[in-house]
Amino acid sequence: MILSIESSCDDSSLALTCIENASLLYHIKLSQDEEHSTYGGVVPEIASRLHAQRLPEILKKLKTFLNDDLSVIKAIAVTTRPGLSVTLIEGLMMAKTLCLGLQIPLICVNHLKGHIYSLFITDNTESTFAGHSYTFESTQKNLSLRVNQCLPLGILLVSGGHTQILTMRGANDISLIAQSLDDSFGESFDKVAKYLGLGYPGGPIVESYAKEFMQNYPHTAPHSFPVPLLHNHQLQFSFSGLKNAVRLAIEALPQPFSPKDLGSICAGFQKSACEHILRKIRLFFQTQQAQNLTHFAIVGGASANTYLRQEIEKLCIEFGKTLILAPLQFCSDNAAMIGVCAIEQYQREDFTPLHEAQISPKSLSTDFCEK
Ligand code: KG4
Ligand code: ZN
Repeated sequence: MILSIESSCDDSSLALTCIENASLLYHIKLSQDEEHSTYGGVVPEIASRLHAQRLPEILKKLKTFLNDDLSVIKAIAVTTRPGLSVTLIEGLMMAKTLCLGLQIPLICVNHLKGHIYSLFITDNTESTFAGHSYTFESTQKNLSLRVNQCLPLGILLVSGGHTQILTMRGANDISLIAQSLDDSFGESFDKVAKYLGLGYPGGPIVESYAKEFMQNYPHTAPHSFPVPLLHNHQLQFSFSGLKNAVRLAIEALPQPFSPKDLGSICAGFQKSACEHILRKIRLFFQTQQAQNLTHFAIVGGASANTYLRQEIEKLCIEFGKTLILAPLQFCSDNAAMIGVCAIEQYQREDFTPLHEAQISPKSLSTDFCEK
């Protein structure tokens, strides 16, 4: 099995994945939402210290799960890019130490590719948790079969750091089609929540206020915000203008904010942000390169957004694409997706010598080829 480590932002997570059939055997994650909440965003220094403290704690639990027998681990996988360099380094240090101690290879994983591979996680933790049995009958198809079934695949990646459209035509053939010129979709939710004093992470909070508003005032239009890049026909995203429009609207509100105003801002913002994404995906679906895509996926932390999911589902039906989504618990950052992604690299023997593995001070945005 492969032990995978994720520490690219504010989640400390470890997982064990079976090499033979790529199923998830063990997964543990400690989030730092509470610690960063008062700041309205992730404070890298605090995140780094918390990883340093928590990664060893959860490694201890994983060791107990394995009855202290680490010889079953054949490689260590770790997220090395993109992300916060001061938090990535914590995961990489632990990975290198484990590789040295156990004399096994290191697999460096791209976090965004990990999000894509969250689509292919087969969760077997329930069946292995009680019995501690790692050799079970494999009824699942192996990973490459699972991946190939969904190819060629179009992808919307919406996380805290990135908003991208990608295509995947092979297990390791991923191309970047479009990305944000400035802020990301998830980040703009975080900022809106911060302006409204609602805490961090903003995505789920803003979504729930928006939902409540739409339920309580079904006949009232929410605050109206401009849809970004409305008259621009390029495949690109932008959220900073919308973010500022929301900030100005909030500054004009009477204080303290009434629940109705809070809901109206959140619903109006979410509507414009999603409308922007939808218009760009429609544009993408109309391009030549999207014609033969049979499947379409939404991945990344913000792919948990129900409104976005529903709207994209309608678009997929219109264009005849099969929508695929990761299980909700694996949309946000986790080591399980890093583990399943690492299986593909393990099979190609894509290992990194320990002395070559490092964190770039300015995290590379992507490993994907640009088209
Ligand atoms: O992928 P992720 O867990 O971390 C990064 O790689 O950045 O994504 C986290 C981002 C945060 O910005 C969070 O606010 C956003 O995903 N998010 C959401 C929702 N749930 C999480 N955004 C909109 N709606 C949601 N329901
Ligand atoms: Zn992420």
